[in-house]
Amino acid sequence: MSSVEVRNLSKKYGDFTAVRNASFRAETGSLISILGPSGCGKTTTLRTIAGFEDATAGDILLDERSVSDVPAWRRNIGIVFQSYALFPFMTVADNVGYGLKMRKMGKAEIVRKTNDVLNRVGLPDSNAKYPRQLSGGQRQRVALARALVIEPAVMLLDEPLSALDAKLRDEMRFELKKIQRQSGVTTLLVTHDQEEAFTLSDQIVVMNNAVIKQIGSPRDIWDNPNCAFVADFIGIENILPAERTETGVRIAGREFQAETDVSSGRDVMAAFRSSDLELAIDEPGHFAGLIVGEAYTGSDNVYQVQSDLSRAPIILKTEKSLRLSGNISLKLPADRIKILERD
Ligand SMILES: Nc1ncnc2c1ncn2[C@@H]1O[C@H](COP(=O)(O)OP(=O)(O)OP(=O)(O)O)[C@@H](O)[C@H]1O
Ligand SMILES: [Mg+2]
Repeated sequence: MSSVEVRNLSKKYGDFTAVRNASFRAETGSLISILGPSGCGKTTTLRTIAGFEDATAGDILLDERSVSDVPAWRRNIGIVFQSYALFPFMTVADNVGYGLKMRKMGKAEIVRKTNDVLNRVGLPDSNAKYPRQLSGGQRQRVALARALVIEPAVMLLDEPLSALDAKLRDEMRFELKKIQRQSGVTTLLVTHDQEEAFTLSDQIVVMNNAVIKQIGSPRDIWDNPNCAFVADFIGIENILPAERTETGVRIAGREFQAETDVSSGRDVMAAFRSSDLELAIDEPGHFAGLIVGEAYTGSDNVYQVQSDLSRAPIILKTEKSLRLSGNISLKLPADRIKILERD
């Protein structure tokens, strides 16, 4: 197993920069996700680590050693591609054993290792089947098995679950975590699904427009997104332009107490979750709202509330059932407001 370090990596295609000065590190045995929207440079980063692309600048280190001059096939990296393309005319066993055959391993050894890894991914009786005879989730496991069988020091997974429907994706998420824990292989997972990143990762690297915006544990990023992009991407519903003051922020002329430990300038964004707003009556700092829309999402009621904080309605989530067109009074507790740099 290896640690993986990406150091000041840039990748250009002609004049276009797909990855700009990216640095992050995955400790040995950990699972790190690269999370970001389509086109932000996730696959490019992964392909460069794998050695399928040359870095324009910067370096890739496996176990503290630069591999920039090591060809892809010698990096001992297992890969599951974004479209996990199995060989359609090969059986499951042949698909899985392919990498070992390429490495000139003996037949008996290939059979033993193939059986072992298919067991581990929960497909013990599928050796003779063809990919078309398998479900999406089963094919996904074959792709995983094919990457795992070479006993890689590092595994790169590019959106490995995106082709699956929601229920199967949830199941496979647990499987993936289990397999990763058991094999102890350092894993880089690319995804645009924040829930996937949050449930699976030790560390998350959030990217946008070729640039890393934030790196942290799921907890860090959930509690302290560092910019409006990250806050929005992880689903914080209310993000409003604000000015920093001595004691907090001013949103649309109204003062709110908040913790102000960012080094950003006067113009910031103030963010708060829909569940952080409290219904209040005549408490200090309360403000008025009018319910202009409603949506029911399972156990909570979600409302659009027009207030003087912003032109667009803010979003309120509450256990209480409120009346459309009703007037309410809201409070925003000081410790719930996140002050973010504008981006
Ligand atoms: N071979 C290439 N030549 C030119 N541009 C490329 C090439 N590969 C990728 N790009 C561009 O680089 C940018 C990043 O692409 P990349 O595939 O890394 O995105 P991604 O984050 O993986 O997106 P997705 O979530 O859609 O897979 C995109 O704008 C893409 O068009
Ligand atoms: Mg991609």
